[in-house]
Amino acid sequence: MSHSVKAVSTVRDLRHVTADWRSAGKTIALVPTMGALHSGHVSLVRQAKDRADKVVVSIFVNPTQFAPHEDLARYPRDEAGDHAKLTAAEADLVWSPSVEEMYPASFSTGIKAGSAAADLEGAFRPHHFDGVATVCAKLFNQVTPDVAIFGEKDYQQLAVLRQLVDDLNMPLKLIAAPTVRETDGLALSSRNAYLSEKERAIAPALYATITDAAEKIAIGTPFSVVTTDATARLVKAGFTKVDYIDIRDASTLSASVSPGKPLRILAAAWLGKTRLIDNVAAGSPS
Ligand code: PAF
Repeated sequence: MSHSVKAVSTVRDLRHVTADWRSAGKTIALVPTMGALHSGHVSLVRQAKDRADKVVVSIFVNPTQFAPHEDLARYPRDEAGDHAKLTAAEADLVWSPSVEEMYPASFSTGIKAGSAAADLEGAFRPHHFDGVATVCAKLFNQVTPDVAIFGEKDYQQLAVLRQLVDDLNMPLKLIAAPTVRETDGLALSSRNAYLSEKERAIAPALYATITDAAEKIAIGTPFSVVTTDATARLVKAGFTKVDYIDIRDASTLSASVSPGKPLRILAAAWLGKTRLIDNVAAGSPS
């Protein structure tokens, strides 16, 4: 018999399902998403299945993490495609609340994201991580997962959410999953759908540039030279604006790094109206 993933859209229905699972002694993994699912999300579902008995995938395009000038209205939505992918991946439940279910008219509480949100994305999207932290706190309270899985593509988001879970003693474990890429290196993202054919051809230069930057760091090139050269390379490739290319401590995201500690190169750059982000690991120069 063919499997079709069950979907619920009210907290009440969600709690009925999770209460049944809990009384049967099952563990739960949550994969939070904003829908328009791609192979990166599917790989998160597969990893979630290895970590828990039941997998809940939330689909909610969270308005509070978009600034008024950002792409909330045109963010890609594909309910039927998402359902088919989650059925094929054998997820157990889709949690897709409406905006009114998540944020009723009476809603007035919010979380202020911690220090990990202070710069990088936080400098360009000032309230973004408050919105992410608030919706994730709600998702964690609604689903009560044992583990939640997030892609490393949004590396700073993971750092912000680790702080949230630690600071507020939330009883779940966060798992980081490696970024899934196209064969030419472009990190999978629902926003890649915005790229024109010409922009799509330029886009892999982001990953190529930060990968090359990691190699230069490994041979001891000064950070300022690495970031200046990488910025110039992106502009030459056709990126219209580079918001940042930064080299940080991989675990704290602090700009002050110590010899021998793992580093992370994080970048955000524009191709026309589309903003791409990416990051890679780098070894610290000895
Ligand atoms: O990474 C995302 O898709 C979103 O920021 C998340 C974690 C689902 C919160 O809305």
